[in-house]
Formats: sequence, C-alpha cells, structure tokens
Amino acid sequence: MTHTFTIAIDGPAGAGKGTLARRLADHYRLNLLDTGLTYRAVAHKLLGLGLPLDNVSAAETAARQVDLSNLDRTVLSAHAVGEAASKVAVIPTVRRILVEKQRAFAKAPPGAVLDGRDIGTVVCPDADIKLYVTASAEVRAKRRLAEIESMGGSADLATILADIERRDERDMGRADSPLKPAADAHLLDTSEMAIEAAFLAAMAIVDEALAKRNRA
Ligand code: DC
Repeated sequence: MTHTFTIAIDGPAGAGKGTLARRLADHYRLNLLDTGLTYRAVAHKLLGLGLPLDNVSAAETAARQVDLSNLDRTVLSAHAVGEAASKVAVIPTVRRILVEKQRAFAKAPPGAVLDGRDIGTVVCPDADIKLYVTASAEVRAKRRLAEIESMGGSADLATILADIERRDERDMGRADSPLKPAADAHLLDTSEMAIEAAFLAAMAIVDEALAKRNRA
C-alpha cells in the first residue's frame, strides 16, 4: 500500500467495531485508533478529579492533555468510564479538540483504521472506506453479558440492555456529531453474523476498493 489509506468504522457500543477495526488494521498493516478511548480519557480525568462531567472548562483542559500514544485501555475500559465518556462527548469544544488530534493521526502514513461514532461523518469524511457496524440492542446486551461472565463476573441482562439503550439514545440524539451512518457507508449488521464473517465481509469491501484504485 503506497498511499495513505483510511478506513472509518462507526457504530453503537458493543456492535463489534473494535474487534473488526483491530483485525482490519492488522491485515492491511494500518495504524489503529479507537477514538472512544479519547473521550474515555477525558471522562476518566474528570472522574479522578471529582469534577462534574458537564464542567466544560475542565473537560476542555483534559481534552487538550489527551495523548494518543498513551491511552491506557485497561484503565479506560471500565463500564462507568464509558458512561461518563458518552456524557462529556456532548460538549462541542471537547469534540473539536479531540477531532483535531484524530485527524492528525489518520493522516500519518501508511494510513489508519479509526473506529468511533462520527468517523465517516465528521472526522474523516473523505475516508477511502466507511463501514457502519451495527447489531440489535438485545444481541449487543447478550454479547456484553457473555463477556462479563467469561471474565468470571456476573450481571443482569435487563440492566445491561437498559444501559445500552440509554447510551444509544445519548450518542444518536446529541446535537453535535450524532452517531449515524454516513451516506456512503457500507452497512454491516452483525446481529446474526460472527465476527469472522463480519471481517470477511469488510475485507471484500476493502479489497474491491483497493482493486478499483489500482485500476484508476
Ligand atoms: O466506543 P466507546 O464505548 O469507547 O465510546 C465511549 C463514548 O465516547 C461513546 O458512548 C460516545 C463517545 N464517542 C464519541 O462521541 N465519538 C467517538 N468518535 C467515539 C466515542
């Protein structure tokens, strides 16, 4: 791959976009950015300082301090941090600061796979490939429960489902950069598709785009 190449992946929490992004980045040897971690880093900072999540100036300062090369997935993956991230993500200035960093990351050669909520619509509207990965809320809740149980934990399916629906509502309903498929996104519904099948489907889409580009 000689030019910078960008793959944008969007979708709701738990649809499998993170795994898909990692598989695609490995396969095509592209850089990888889980943009959710950037919003999580801001939320984590505010939680640590004991500040409310709608403290705009503190959130802006935290957003400026986000270092893309130093995002600790283990700390940031906590459920409460995801909830809090969804709340700081409604602040337009926080989005502007983080989007600027995400765009710079996407531009670095050889290119990147970015996953999030607004990659195809706002961060990289000119991405070579846009995927919108979704699954029903019920399927996502069951997957999340299985994940928790596989780590030895326990949880209640109805509570997880309610959390997921609340998060969808906030991410899709906010005024600035709501989660929605870009007009030119390929839709991948993983409700009844294993991640391997989703990966193969995505690969077929990317390979076709690459072949077209090489013919041009
Ligand atoms: O993908 P995730 O669960 O790590 O994302 C956490 C929250 O961050 C999500 O609920 C909304 C916000 N987010 C966003 O607004 N835009 C992105 N590109 C990525 C995440």
